[in-house]
Amino acid sequence: MDLSQIYEFPVKEFFKQPRSLFGAGAHESAGPEAAAMGLKHVLFVTSGLRGTGIIDNCKKNFEDAGVSVTVYDKVESNPKDYNVMDSYKAFSEGGCDGFVSIGGGSSHDTTKGARVVAAHDGRNVNEFQAVNASEKLDNPAHIAINTTVGTGSETTPAYVITDLSSPNAPHKWVGFDRAAITTLAINDPILCMTQPPEYVAYTGFDTMAHASECYVGRVQHPSTTPIALSAVKMVSDSLREATYNPRNYEAMEKMVWAQYIAAQAFSTGLLGILHSLSHAVCAYYDIHHGLNNGVGLPRVWTYNQPAAPDKYADIAGAMGVDTRNMTTAQAADAAIEEVIRLVKDCGCPENWGQVGEYPKTRMGKGWYEGKTNASIQSDDDELQKMAEHMMGDLCTPGNPRDLTVEGAKEILRDCMYDGMEVKTGNGHRQAIWGVSPQEGRMSFAGSDPQPKS
Ligand SMILES: [Fe+2]
Repeated sequence: MDLSQIYEFPVKEFFKQPRSLFGAGAHESAGPEAAAMGLKHVLFVTSGLRGTGIIDNCKKNFEDAGVSVTVYDKVESNPKDYNVMDSYKAFSEGGCDGFVSIGGGSSHDTTKGARVVAAHDGRNVNEFQAVNASEKLDNPAHIAINTTVGTGSETTPAYVITDLSSPNAPHKWVGFDRAAITTLAINDPILCMTQPPEYVAYTGFDTMAHASECYVGRVQHPSTTPIALSAVKMVSDSLREATYNPRNYEAMEKMVWAQYIAAQAFSTGLLGILHSLSHAVCAYYDIHHGLNNGVGLPRVWTYNQPAAPDKYADIAGAMGVDTRNMTTAQAADAAIEEVIRLVKDCGCPENWGQVGEYPKTRMGKGWYEGKTNASIQSDDDELQKMAEHMMGDLCTPGNPRDLTVEGAKEILRDCMYDGMEVKTGNGHRQAIWGVSPQEGRMSFAGSDPQPKS
């Protein structure tokens, strides 16, 4: 794909949003809604949500409405291409006529991929990366019942799949497809109250990533950019309370609204290199997407701040900083300080290296060395591969500042090894321009600029 074709976004596409139901008890409408659509036999696509009782309750809800249910409950975090193909197989072998995803982004994204595959007679999902890749738009119905405060996938045209089987593997790719938009999105904050605290925090970091990337990005669509800033404020106001007191309905409801409107915003306003960063490390290490974003937030805001200081000053204000006696640059730096405080308050590790041995690791350096568990400690060769992964990501062109391979490597290295602190002046921001204060860091002189149309 020639990314230079979409740099600067001379034509902006507004993606429609699906019909949605929001509120306490909304998930109990799912079965009757499926029946009203004329569905007779649906496939539940989920990770299982074991210990919550949600799947059993939803199954009864559908069966009481006269809709039969088959369950595929093997969805993994960072869903893999085989999760999609196995879901499609269960759908076709079960004689199903509609999909119901129950969970967070992994379940919704797997289902979006399976619908696209179903519309194309079982072709491999890895053939459908990029923008509006579907040739056939007549997909089976999809009801998405959301249980997290992160991805917003129940309402977006986006889905993200990890390719483990093609010659490009490992590759975590983004599909942005009008044919992947769900038929009905259901957000019930009661379901989100079943999340463990760390998942509230991690998925909340994802929402902050969506909101901030859309707000500072290059698309700047008047219909969606303003609500991105609203979502920044909602996360800043409510994430601590929702994390540490997930039974506080009011705080959880605000986080669900935040994740929902941030997703609506980026459906049209798009994302940036924080998501490219997260996709790259997930391709190699299978770490939680929201946790990646928490570690990456201050690093990417630091990298981007000089390209959009006024936007980051707005973000500081939205996060409650009194910016009246600050210059724009000072206020923009205050936003970075504020987001570090937020993610640390919510339990985010200083860097990926502190995550320890991640139990699902299977693609990175440790895997190739014969270890199924490995901490994230990349050598230069692996950093180079991840940086190139970032450069080719569909989210990179939306970023307010151009990215180089060397700049990407520095951000990755910082996320892996450094402490989380405000790095202005002689620190991080200058280093990624080539003024390396530490021996052994790469020089960035001579790197090729990003293409522009
Ligand atoms: Fe995300």
